Amino acid sequence: MPKIRVGLIGVGNCASALIQGVHYCRGEGGRVKLRYPEIGGFRPEDIEFVCAFDIAEGKVGKDLSKAIFAAPNNAPKFADVPNLGVEVLKGPVLDGLNEYTKKIVRVDPRPEVDVADKIRESGAEIMVNLLPGGAQRASLWYADKILEAGCAFINATPTIIASDPSWDDRFRKAGLPLIGDDLMDQVGATFIHKAILEALNSRGVQILETYQLDVGGGTESADIERAWGTKRAIKTKTIEAVLPYRAAVVAGSTDFVDFLGSRRDSYIWVSGEYFGGARFEIEIRLNTLDAPNAVPILLDAIRGTKLALLRGESGHILPISAYAFKHPAKILPIHEAEKLFEEYISGKA
Ligand SMILES: NC(=O)c1ccc[n+]([C@@H]2O[C@H](COP(=O)([O-])OP(=O)(O)OC[C@H]3O[C@@H](n4cnc5c(N)ncnc54)[C@H](O)[C@@H]3O)[C@@H](O)[C@H]2O)c1
Repeated sequence: MPKIRVGLIGVGNCASALIQGVHYCRGEGGRVKLRYPEIGGFRPEDIEFVCAFDIAEGKVGKDLSKAIFAAPNNAPKFADVPNLGVEVLKGPVLDGLNEYTKKIVRVDPRPEVDVADKIRESGAEIMVNLLPGGAQRASLWYADKILEAGCAFINATPTIIASDPSWDDRFRKAGLPLIGDDLMDQVGATFIHKAILEALNSRGVQILETYQLDVGGGTESADIERAWGTKRAIKTKTIEAVLPYRAAVVAGSTDFVDFLGSRRDSYIWVSGEYFGGARFEIEIRLNTLDAPNAVPILLDAIRGTKLALLRGESGHILPISAYAFKHPAKILPIHEAEKLFEEYISGKA
């Protein structure tokens, strides 16, 4: 199979887990539990990382295989990554740092590179945006450069890009696929919350009130002040979309708890009414490791995007976005989104 040539914007925890994930599949493919070991004939091992951009001293100028383990990244190490021959390049800082990361990250003193030129030189066909959630200006800036370089774009961050009709239009006119926004985790609170509500609703239960809140210890959670409003809007909308009636829904992220490290505690609470007006409550605490949680769905999105490129499709690709992201242009119930994705990868949609 030809390789899938992928570039990364941001070499943080998620990038670390993604790169390790590809090598984990290479080394121990037989043991890896993936829902889709192959998509259109592509396996995770067919992904090749060809360029990466960051701003942090200790990451810029390093080989990608080393940069993924540089501070303040705290994603667990679960695979050996050999030298990749890809030097992390310096991008513009813009709003990339927040009040917390400003204190712990030193900006690399090198001049920034011409990002569009470097993407073109690398031969990347898909760029994945893994900037901090609050770096909205930087995300939009890179989206422009990716268009200029002529690559497909996957936006894993909560910045609204793929679900914005004006960006859809620009990527469509450029003949390039656009996927996003805000990646769904494999065992994430949003997925679990949606699955619980869908299951209850299918049995005729009336949900009255429900919330989902979390705290985490990764640098991404330290950016919660800037990303709070967007995260809350996206998560609440995606949860509300599974119910065919209005209920009181609150879903968002609340705070940074440094000693949690790479772990996240998510709290889901549901109250409702079933037969005869009987009331019930459900309370769940989900404790997960953040970065590896992003990997399986991101591997699916990358391979799905490769198919979109091979099929010459452009603009927002709903079957991939609705399955893999919290805020696609149209939010679908989980089983519908999965069905659409499966039809898409098998060439039926
Ligand atoms: N499970 C998950 O990890 C998950 C799930 C869903 C969405 N996401 C999203 O993925 C994104 C990345 O998450 P993360 O945990 O890796 O974050 P992170 O904070 O660990 O990594 C962000 C990286 O971007 C770099 N950066 C900052 N400004 C930059 C700039 N201007 N140019 C280039 N690089 C810059 C930082 O130095 C850092 O290396 C976030 O937006 C997050 O919301 C992650």
